Amino acid sequence: MAREILTSGIRPTGELHLGNYYGAMKNILELQNKYQAYFFIVDIHSLTTHPKPDSLMRNVLEIAKDYLAAGLDPEQSTFYTQSSIAEEICELHTYLSMVMPLGDLLRCPTFKEKAKKHPDNVNYGLVGYPVLMAADILIHKGKLVPVGEDQLVHLEMARTIVRKFNQLYGEIFPEPRPIIENAVRIPSLSGKGKMSKSDLANSYISMKDSKEIIHEKVRKAYSDPTRVYKHQAGNPSKEGCNVYHLHTYFTDQETLNEIQVNCQGAAIGCIQCKSLLSNSIQTLIEPFRDKREKLTDDYIYDVLALGRRKAKESSQKVIAEVRKAIGLRMF
Ligand code: ADP
Ligand code: TRP
Repeated sequence: MAREILTSGIRPTGELHLGNYYGAMKNILELQNKYQAYFFIVDIHSLTTHPKPDSLMRNVLEIAKDYLAAGLDPEQSTFYTQSSIAEEICELHTYLSMVMPLGDLLRCPTFKEKAKKHPDNVNYGLVGYPVLMAADILIHKGKLVPVGEDQLVHLEMARTIVRKFNQLYGEIFPEPRPIIENAVRIPSLSGKGKMSKSDLANSYISMKDSKEIIHEKVRKAYSDPTRVYKHQAGNPSKEGCNVYHLHTYFTDQETLNEIQVNCQGAAIGCIQCKSLLSNSIQTLIEPFRDKREKLTDDYIYDVLALGRRKAKESSQKVIAEVRKAIGLRMF
């Protein structure tokens, strides 16, 4: 039986950190065995903020390396850049824009938030962001879309578009459904909120950090504020100690139990405990970093060219069907 089609857009922005990797990326990549997956780097979407051409190109390469190092299989899935099928995507985007109600776009909370934050750059592309996203999904007749909570509203708009389009032109598209990302939120090393790249560099672990840097960052991490002396008992719980909270994601159960007993009994201090945490994190990152370092730019170009061929094939079929349904004929 044919596997259901899954589409997932990847933003080419910023450095990948442990939170992204552990909280989102790993789960998304697990889906590639179950579905016929299309993973694409949304370089056209990123133009809303006018990145410098050199840095856009560099970011695309870097993020492609991240996903491949994390286990994306470019043979099994289709992995490409959105712009490499620009003709099909932009054409479909235009057709979809004709049925998308403008009011919904202007009321969209992500749009309003961005417009408020950057009032000097409220461009047409920003308003139409969800329509372009719908085109990404529908160009392959995607049925499933893994998304974080913040993207649900965009997916709802894609569903609105499908309903309106199908009403006018027949059952062309399936209504895409979300696969909600698990709600794991890796805490920041600073103890304030989730790990995020918009935090100070010392508050997150980049997936590219060396063993020494990981050790240094973890050594300075916020721990249990009530434990001032080593001979004091600690509070090894998620609420009581940020370092323990981090351990729960990255350290095996047996070591975790030992830490709990030893911390409560004041048999280990925070420095030792942090050193165990940095070992656990290092064990997770090392294979990723090693694999990533071996990926050359030329290899990435080949992978993305393969992805483009596969994505072209699928998207050209759909766009031909769409034109016919609309009543557009290529002479
Ligand atoms: P950042 O806050 O670093 O800018 P993004 O907003 O770019 O992160 O998030 C990219 C993806 O990574 C999203 O799917 C988001 O849910 C996930 N993510 C970001 N930070 C964390 C975290 N600390 N723990 C788990 N998942 C995270
Ligand atoms: N808007 C998504 C984000 O900010 C990225 C994206 C673009 C996407 N096109 C998509 C996600 C299509 C899923 C499907 O993360």
